Amino acid sequence: MSITVQPLDENQRQSCPENFAFGTTFSDHMFTQEYDATSGWNNALISPYHSLSLDPSAAVFHYSQEIFEGLKAYRAHDGGINLFRPEENIKRFNRSAKRMVMPEVDEALHLEAIKSLITLDKAWVPAKDGASLYIRPTMIATSPKLGLGASSNYQHFIICGPAGTYFEGGLTPIAVHVADKYRRAVVGGVGEAKTGGNYAASLYASEDVVKKGYSQVLWLDAVSGRYIEEVGAMNICFVYEGKRIVTPSLSGSILPGITRDSLLKLAPTLGYEVAEERLDIEVILADIASGKITEVFGCGTAAVISPVGVLCYKDKDFVVNNNETGEVSKHLYDELTGIQYGTREDKFNWIQSVTG
Ligand SMILES: Cc1ncc(COP(=O)(O)O)c(C=O)c1O
Repeated sequence: MSITVQPLDENQRQSCPENFAFGTTFSDHMFTQEYDATSGWNNALISPYHSLSLDPSAAVFHYSQEIFEGLKAYRAHDGGINLFRPEENIKRFNRSAKRMVMPEVDEALHLEAIKSLITLDKAWVPAKDGASLYIRPTMIATSPKLGLGASSNYQHFIICGPAGTYFEGGLTPIAVHVADKYRRAVVGGVGEAKTGGNYAASLYASEDVVKKGYSQVLWLDAVSGRYIEEVGAMNICFVYEGKRIVTPSLSGSILPGITRDSLLKLAPTLGYEVAEERLDIEVILADIASGKITEVFGCGTAAVISPVGVLCYKDKDFVVNNNETGEVSKHLYDELTGIQYGTREDKFNWIQSVTG
């Protein structure tokens, strides 16, 4: 199947505005395709950004059968455009689809859709430091039926919008609150799929900690409430004595982050030891208090690396590295963003250039 492109006339196209807020400004075009049981995926189209028209009984509104992804296109220093490990996002998209009983997409077509969209909307890839074009592939269940069961019809769409640094203040430490009352996901559930329900389920606790002055929740496992899982939209890493980086193992209820995986591969080439372990919150807090843990940071596509300066558990604040950005966080941020923006050697062949 090929993608039909119906672009706006040149004189109707916009370019990335000087000032934008993440997630509220979108580029000129979008990709869509539909699925039904008879034709499979069909009608692959890139057309001007537009509203969708859905029946109010569409399954997605009632039973949350939906998945999404998040990746970025970076304006390289030579003026080109780089995608970072897009095939990993596509694979995760299809794993999420499978878990949510949704049809998988053709990997090559999905990648071609992303590349064609970015080529068309290249004026939207910002050139500012730390900025990028965020790409949001999504799939929703569209069958108009209220009976509980997997939908027969689906829509797959991809939209893009400029992104600056995710947290106000960029690479400055954030304060994180450990969830001691609420849980995000359970092994055997859908925590390792990128599906909207996981995020809806997290909102109450997130709002609660924001009111207390923290910016993110750190989730613990749902069975014992003892083992560390992940932050709202990031995986979490702990640095021991400036040289050993430890992150929770993939438990089945956390998202297998592509940034996490990239750091596990990249950090050893920079002289760090890395480990994936089951991490007990009490041990971690004791190690922060004793100074054995010298840095804590979240990692994910949106923020890349986000240092954690304060970790609060049961009303007690644990301050990490004097609430300052540590050397390891900065080093890893510089190296990973260096690969993404094309200023560091791409030893792992993670970059796919978009031409046009
Ligand atoms: C819950 C959750 N964990 C971790 C991550 C980090 O994943 P990645 O590095 O692939 O962006 C994300 C972001 O997508 C997320 O939403």
